[in-house]
Amino acid sequence: MKLSFLARGFTALALTSGLASFAIAPAWAQEPIVIKFSHVVASDTPKGRGAERFKQLAEQLTKGRVKVEVYPNSTLYKDKEELEALQLGSVQMLAPSLAKFGPLGVKEFEVFDIPYMFPTQAFLVRIEDGPIGHKLMSKLETKGITGLAFWDNGFKIFSANKPIGSPGDLKGLKLRIQSSKVLEAQMRALDAIPQVMAFGDTYQALQTGVVDGTENPWSNMYKQKLTGVQKNAVDTYHGYLGYAVIVNTKFWSGLPPDIRSALESAMKDATRYEHEIAQKENEDAMAAIEKSGRTKIIHLTADQRSSWVKALAPVRPEVSGRVGKDVIDELVKEQTTAGLK
Ligand code: LMR
Repeated sequence: MKLSFLARGFTALALTSGLASFAIAPAWAQEPIVIKFSHVVASDTPKGRGAERFKQLAEQLTKGRVKVEVYPNSTLYKDKEELEALQLGSVQMLAPSLAKFGPLGVKEFEVFDIPYMFPTQAFLVRIEDGPIGHKLMSKLETKGITGLAFWDNGFKIFSANKPIGSPGDLKGLKLRIQSSKVLEAQMRALDAIPQVMAFGDTYQALQTGVVDGTENPWSNMYKQKLTGVQKNAVDTYHGYLGYAVIVNTKFWSGLPPDIRSALESAMKDATRYEHEIAQKENEDAMAAIEKSGRTKIIHLTADQRSSWVKALAPVRPEVSGRVGKDVIDELVKEQTTAGLK
């Protein structure tokens, strides 16, 4: 912990005048521990609001001994750079999408990208809070990263600049995706052309026609103003977008124990809050998009949705070698136990 100029003078005075018991500088003289929390979405999204809530709670529970600086909208780092910066310690906390851990060598996280693998929100939380979730987070330790929590942003829809009511309508379209091999396989299963791209570059790429369409939960589509560059959308809810809140392990284990436990409870409450608001944020975003009239939304019937489920079914066996057949088998078993099969 760095002592300010004043504190150093105070300590020297204390030491020379034999006031040994006052050697440690009082709290007001110590610089706060700074946590830089970088992310790539707008502040008024589930993740953006979760980060702000964590900041508020962390500063409150540590009585100002910690200062959280939140950098939204890729202002500090874009997708690829932020994970490298975390490993280097240039930033202390991130909440990347579960679809972005493949390039780090932890491809098992891409199990969350398998289309229609998670029938309900409750089932997702059950998996994330259970042995599968813990096992996945523990895989980050070998990368110098510690997983603190899973955050949520709900299920994704497709958007493009032509009506896309059935799977065949995406044939030949260039579609922006996150850096996940499972999402590549998903787009190929629809005869579309996947284009990996940083989230922050998506708007411009859609505006200039570098890509024709993409997939997002409603909140990201609305808050990233993609309604301005996407005339059509369809409520497929084909895949999940979740996050892992992660920290640099060296930074985290180097914290004073009382600070770390205060931050752990701040994270617990912020996670509860983030989960509570995520669904409503997406419902409100869909309603706002519909009301704006800028993007025409096709609402699928159960029958129509089953044609998407059928078209995307080949993805799961195709990627089982990559994400781990054992994890998929465990998920299917959990679905049966949960009465969802
Ligand atoms: C995306 O790249 O589409 C999302 O992961 C962005 C985000 O963090 O929600």
